[in-house]
Amino acid sequence: MTATTGPKTGPDAGPLLAVRDLTMTFPGRRGRRRAAVRAVDGVSFDLAPGETLGLVGESGCGKSTTGRMIVRLLEPTAGSVVYAGRDISRLSQRALKPLRRELQMVFQDPHSSLNPHQTVARIVADPLLVQGVPAAEARERAAGLMELVGLVPEHLDRFPHAFSGGQAQRIGIARALATGPRLIVADEPVSALDVSVQAQIVGLLDRLRRELGLACLFIAHDLAVVKRVCDRVAVMYLGRIVEIGDKDRVYAAPAHPYTRALLSAVPLPDPAAERARERIVLAGDPPSPAAPPPGCTFHPRCPKAQDVCRREAPLLRVPVPGERREVACHFPETG
Ligand SMILES: Nc1ncnc2c1ncn2[C@@H]1O[C@H](COP(=O)(O)OP(=O)(O)OP(=O)(O)O)[C@@H](O)[C@H]1O
Ligand code: SF4
Ligand SMILES: [Mg+2]
Repeated sequence: MTATTGPKTGPDAGPLLAVRDLTMTFPGRRGRRRAAVRAVDGVSFDLAPGETLGLVGESGCGKSTTGRMIVRLLEPTAGSVVYAGRDISRLSQRALKPLRRELQMVFQDPHSSLNPHQTVARIVADPLLVQGVPAAEARERAAGLMELVGLVPEHLDRFPHAFSGGQAQRIGIARALATGPRLIVADEPVSALDVSVQAQIVGLLDRLRRELGLACLFIAHDLAVVKRVCDRVAVMYLGRIVEIGDKDRVYAAPAHPYTRALLSAVPLPDPAAERARERIVLAGDPPSPAAPPPGCTFHPRCPKAQDVCRREAPLLRVPVPGERREVACHFPETG
């Protein structure tokens, strides 16, 4: 399975990140009859330098596990993560250390991802100190990062509990930026924040990725947020990508029945369009990844399912020749 969509930076430039058949199986617990969980099942995509890919899907579909394997907080069961031309999926922690500068993660819950016993100066400067930057220089750079994320250097000597959720997430972003990364995995970076603050943090991330030329895997369940920040979008269902392509195309004309259902739940800003919006309500919850249905794993919930769907798993392919997207469905919408 290949994912060929996505801009390149020059005629011969390779992607910054090439994920191929990435798979994560969590073992069942020994001594109990608990089946292994195939949390991520053969995920493939490319990410060009400076590009943002949104990764969406219902809770439990494998978004965080995918992100964690890419930054190597988890070692994949199978498949590869090729970063800047080098397969990093099996590197030892020691061999990974110099790469940690370039691959950073922003987490969902800003407070629990910041050590409550450390000052902000320590938190933001720590990745620099680990890389051997002298303490005085690290503090100076931390002060500059505070300003970059909309805080003030005076905040450096406070502890995380003194900050609101939005401010704490700005600190988390400053820490992620400290080492000058080229790729950020942002795992639901605004979903724990008040709605009023979400737009500010989304705007900050959007500005930073443009100014700093960062590539970003932006994980979210809120499709309106993803639409704002990403160039392309990938939709996951039960551990697999079911649709991936240019944002404008996918949002304007979703080809997979699951994407259509997800998008039909997003409120529209135009009141007339909102009144006319037709919601597709999916039956039931997603099945357990410990016992996925045969064939197309979406078939028990799919309004278009036919016999072949129950037998054969559809592969990702381009539904209309020349389109910059791929869909895993036997009967994609092509209009
Ligand atoms: N350490 C683990 N051990 C066993 N199963 C796990 C582990 N981590 C995740 N899982 C399972 O793997 C599947 C995917 O989880 P994951 O956290 O990647 O989903 P997600 O799409 O990020 O969900 P959410 O939107 O709720 O954050 C789920 O069924 C989850 O229960
Ligand atoms: S392959 Fe069949 S069941 Fe699966 S999404 Fe397409 S139409 Fe629905
Ligand atoms: Mg998650």
